[in-house]
Amino acid sequence: MKIAQFSSVGRPDQVIECVDAADLGDPKDNEVLIDILAFPINPADVLILEGKYGMQYKLPSRLGAESVGKVNKIGKNVQGFAIGDMVLPLDRENWVQQKMVLASNLILLPKNVDPLQLSMMKVNPATAYLMIKKYVQLNKNDWIIQDAANSGVGHSVISIAKHLGLKTINIVRRQGLEDKLKKIGADVVVIDNNNLSQTVKQLSDNAKIKLAIDAVGGDQVLRIGDCLEDEATILNYGLLSGKNIEISSYHTVFKRILLTGFWLMPWLQNMKQQEIIDMYSYLSSLIEKGIIHVPVEKTYSLEKIKDAVSHAATYGRSGKIIVTPNGTKF
Ligand SMILES: NC(=O)c1ccc[n+]([C@@H]2O[C@H](COP(=O)([O-])OP(=O)(O)OC[C@H]3O[C@@H](n4cnc5c(N)ncnc54)[C@H](OP(=O)(O)O)[C@@H]3O)[C@@H](O)[C@H]2O)c1
Repeated sequence: MKIAQFSSVGRPDQVIECVDAADLGDPKDNEVLIDILAFPINPADVLILEGKYGMQYKLPSRLGAESVGKVNKIGKNVQGFAIGDMVLPLDRENWVQQKMVLASNLILLPKNVDPLQLSMMKVNPATAYLMIKKYVQLNKNDWIIQDAANSGVGHSVISIAKHLGLKTINIVRRQGLEDKLKKIGADVVVIDNNNLSQTVKQLSDNAKIKLAIDAVGGDQVLRIGDCLEDEATILNYGLLSGKNIEISSYHTVFKRILLTGFWLMPWLQNMKQQEIIDMYSYLSSLIEKGIIHVPVEKTYSLEKIKDAVSHAATYGRSGKIIVTPNGTKF
């Protein structure tokens, strides 16, 4: 079988490679062998290849935070899964044609849902869901502001917030995204500018904003701070600008704004199994109903992993880049 691996860190498309690996054989008693149908290239995967992610890797290493798979073989003690079931592996190293997973690390998914959409469910929709639900008490018609609103997470924030009766102000960095984001439920779409708080006030009718969700960092956060009401929370979950977050003491002292960070991995490590199952069952039902739908720009074979990684790093994509390691006939 084929896998993607990296033996050094550096320019992502130069260090990633598709290589042959030994077949996995039969599952042990509590294991399931799955064929990987699809996985997305996420910014965090690119950071890993660059050596900039918050984890150490023993090289050469496999990678890939998420995927969707189909059950191929089942160990003799495994219950609740059948051959052909669609499954979400909760562990990493997903950029492979096949993997062996402990049954306790698999979530059963509904059949007849687009595998490309399901392949993007573990990370971004869960991130959006937990950031909306777990930090600030929000009531119907409350407002959230987010940047990088055209990202996969951004799409999920808009769709989940809409579904929960919340309103969103969505900051993007370029023209041409307003119609697209309003179609999926964005209330306000604004391009970042030096008078961001004035623009936001006008477009949202002076909304009182309690939660800000930031993946950009840098001075974008200063401008977001100006848009928030007193005692609001800023949740930083990404570093797309590559710059440290800027915040003023006017925000932290006089407005008493709280700045904290979100990382999905410890959430998944600390949540009870049933909570994880419930969350993904809610998110897959939103995907099934078309409420969460993240555009896909292009799919690649695993052999073309270098092209896929390089494409994922391009400016102004219309959607995610997905790899289908076992072909596109699901
Ligand atoms: N902390 C966590 O647990 C967690 C979990 C999931 C994701 N993340 C982070 O969330 C972020 C988004 O991930 P994703 O998979 O949703 O991304 P994605 O779908 O690949 O999209 C990336 C988006 O970022 C925008 N962008 C890139 N550089 C930017 C910059 N300097 N300023 C403003 N916008 C910029 C792009 O804008 P254009 O559309 O204009 O090109 C694009 O919309 C990443 O930083 C990722 O690492 C963190």
